[in-house]
Amino acid sequence: PPAAASPTPPMGWNPWNAFRTDVDEAKIRSSAEALVRTGLAAKGYRFVNIDDGWVLRRLADGRLQIRTSMFPSAATAPAATGSFRPFVGYIHRLGLKAGLYTDIGRNTCAQRWDNNKSPNHPIGSVAEREVGSYGHAAADMRTIFADWGFDYIKIDACGVADYGADSPVVRDGSYRAFPPLIRRGDVPGSDPAEVERLYADLGAAIRRWGGPNAVYSICDWGEADAAAWAPRHGNLWRTSPDIEFSWASMLANMDSALDGALYAGPGHWNDPDMLAIGHAPFDAAHLTEARAHFTMWAIMAAPLLLGFDLRHAPPALLDLVGNAEVIAVDQDAAGNQGVPYRSGATLAVVKRLAAPGARAVALLNRSDRPALARVDWRQLGLAPGSTARVRDLWARRDRTPARDAIALRLPPHGAALLRVTGRPAPGSDAYLDAMPARV
Ligand code: DGJ
Repeated sequence: PPAAASPTPPMGWNPWNAFRTDVDEAKIRSSAEALVRTGLAAKGYRFVNIDDGWVLRRLADGRLQIRTSMFPSAATAPAATGSFRPFVGYIHRLGLKAGLYTDIGRNTCAQRWDNNKSPNHPIGSVAEREVGSYGHAAADMRTIFADWGFDYIKIDACGVADYGADSPVVRDGSYRAFPPLIRRGDVPGSDPAEVERLYADLGAAIRRWGGPNAVYSICDWGEADAAAWAPRHGNLWRTSPDIEFSWASMLANMDSALDGALYAGPGHWNDPDMLAIGHAPFDAAHLTEARAHFTMWAIMAAPLLLGFDLRHAPPALLDLVGNAEVIAVDQDAAGNQGVPYRSGATLAVVKRLAAPGARAVALLNRSDRPALARVDWRQLGLAPGSTARVRDLWARRDRTPARDAIALRLPPHGAALLRVTGRPAPGSDAYLDAMPARV
């Protein structure tokens, strides 16, 4: 896909982690306003994305009908479907960009599983479930980009999967009407090639109707080894299952993307999922963990999609996700993803930055005990015996210049993010750019 769509990793806000399907237009609009008011928009958080739950049904003529109980401003012409034009126009007038969500299969996840807990927006009837874009790739992308004016699309992968016995579609009998399209993942007979074909078809339709700037987020959660093919079709692709609000889940998602370093670059990014910041144990009462989570997403050049309620955001969290020097590491123009060096409970991730001789290094203590984390000049690609400047991006101050290695004591779950500028060792830039993923 064209690099123009996302020369640096997308930044913005998505309602899923905060609201699931108990979301509505007022919540999204006030979050968009909060992005502007808090100054986060000016720092790069531009995309305001709608997630699962917005489709009411697919009409007999194939058009998508918007759930206007969720999006009242969509209750406009054409009456049968409604239109997101007013919503997208509002987001654009704020100087922001708007994203929408669909699925490669027949259904979306909230319609397939009981993760729609909202009494405000109950799951509809069987026929209404066939709202995914399977068989409607071109028409849906035309509607979403040409008619409604969206800038970004996230495409989920629930509607093709095998149905578990606990899925509502199995329980209520609609399984018979809509059997799985593809057996995939760890299910015998899975067909990753078919998954890729569906994503490729949608990618072509997105380019046709959305143009070179449309951002395409492939939300296949890793089972079909999306990183192996997704860079050919999309701007970002999920490398793992959904992030959960736990330290272990954050680490698992982080590891899933660190192992795919080679695939990242301008226009195409590993996506270890949206940020869990704002939810315990990454909330204002756990700033060490929140900082560690944000540090690791920044060093990986991961998308920075906030997922907490910005209307009631603690200043400490706004300050954390608004740290301009940390954001600059994520958004660095070279587009490298950090290269990991693992050592017991600690991890050093080194990323070559665009400025000559500049590297960012994240040091992380995964464990529940204090630990000493270390990175040396070979790992940083700096000339042996040379002295380098070291800036601590969280403390926002320069440290004493260092030579040959940097070692830091970290609290449990602690992380440091440093910007190190020195004399590169010959050949090291190319080495850091082309480093095999697993070190
Ligand atoms: C699964 C995705 O991975 C999540 O990010 C979210 O979009 C949900 N589906 C919505 O049902």
